[in-house]
Amino acid sequence: MKLWGGRFTKETNKLVHNFNSSISFDRRLFRQDIEGSIAHATMLEKQKIISKDERDLIIKGLSDIREEIIEGSLEISQEYEDIHSFVESHLIKRIGEAGKKLHTGRSRNDQVALDMKLYIRDEINVLDNLIKTFLLTIHKIMKENTQTYMPGFTHLQKAQPVTLSHHIGAYFEMFKRDRSRLSDIKKRMNASPLGSGALAGTTYPLDREYCALLLGFDGPSLNSMDSVSDRDYLIELLSALSTIMMHLSRLSEEVIIWNSNEYRFIELDDSYSTGSSIMPQKKNPDIAELVRGKTGRVYGALISLLTTMKGLPLAYNKDMQEDKELTFDAIDTVKSCIALSSEMLSTMKFNKDIMEDSATKGFINATDAADYLVNKGVPFRDAHSIIGKLVLECIDKNISLDKLSLEDYKAISPEFDDDIYEAISLTTCVNKRNTFGAPSKEAMQKVLALNEEYLYND
Ligand code: ARG
Repeated sequence: MKLWGGRFTKETNKLVHNFNSSISFDRRLFRQDIEGSIAHATMLEKQKIISKDERDLIIKGLSDIREEIIEGSLEISQEYEDIHSFVESHLIKRIGEAGKKLHTGRSRNDQVALDMKLYIRDEINVLDNLIKTFLLTIHKIMKENTQTYMPGFTHLQKAQPVTLSHHIGAYFEMFKRDRSRLSDIKKRMNASPLGSGALAGTTYPLDREYCALLLGFDGPSLNSMDSVSDRDYLIELLSALSTIMMHLSRLSEEVIIWNSNEYRFIELDDSYSTGSSIMPQKKNPDIAELVRGKTGRVYGALISLLTTMKGLPLAYNKDMQEDKELTFDAIDTVKSCIALSSEMLSTMKFNKDIMEDSATKGFINATDAADYLVNKGVPFRDAHSIIGKLVLECIDKNISLDKLSLEDYKAISPEFDDDIYEAISLTTCVNKRNTFGAPSKEAMQKVLALNEEYLYND
């Protein structure tokens, strides 16, 4: 079952075969492998390297193999070394002599480089669609919650009031950047390696531009040694996937905190949480925890491939076969994490009253109280200190700033008047934060309009 038996007098040791073989995982590249072979055969005929009949036989044979694999009547069996050997051997079995010409001017080195690029290009589209759906979910929550007040945190300490729309809008920006990273990768990787041969091109008059065109590339790659040994785009992809996971993990962490008994900002839907085998009262955020946990696995893939590549001399080395399992696993993991996070978010209930109540506590309007004094002509540093003293007084009395009497206010600074209560109300605190990108309703409307333009017209 080997493509290279001629020079050997002995069978490969069984353990060596198993260790060397990649078919158990590169089998998922069968579509790309066949698509690339069809383009190669089409080009070979155009260049008069094979005849029209041979081309037609090859294309028919390859298409049949593809169809049979998809419908399940042809099994990709483990005795082959890799998917390339499997497809080529089957083709030869079916169409005979013409099949033996398919590999003219080609090596498995440029073949696998091509297959992976085609696969990654498709998967980037799938990932992009998933993130887009996720952004639609986030956008809906943003639109519905421009007046849902909640505390904004720094150091996980209540800091200043924001809205749910604004808070969740931060994630909109993160995932928007993730999409643009994926699209950059897709652009940069879009050069066809086909025709690079094993490392040094070939002696046949191949038309690499034509192959590139057939396969939707911008053009052929410029250096055959680089083409067969470039895995930069996988490293870039794993880096982009790691960043996506980092974002999902941060969101998961918030979900876990917000879902805790102490916060109760949200309630996870029953269908997106799980119970305990011993504690009957439990409803655990396992999905969010798993997303957070799987982040390590995707980071691991990135570090793993960086390490695999770092010592490799030009050009192809078998080490590179290690790129596949971890890339496939990372892509699968990220796809399921985005889809699940999106569903989890769209089904969870926001306890708006609890969020708002929490925002009235913890002196998150202290900055606004200081700004009030500044507007009355008190220098900010003095205002900061005055409000600090008032906060201390409130802590002592176990009340919030808006519950202090006007006498108490006036006792510390004559600049206070009864408009202080309006100035430190939650609505004022949020809506006065009106700089572009800030949480006020007006500022949010502008961002929402831009997001809508991005989601529906880009
Ligand atoms: N399975 C190999 C890989 O994934 C395909 C290329 C094999 N090339 C070779 N010269 N052995 O990298």
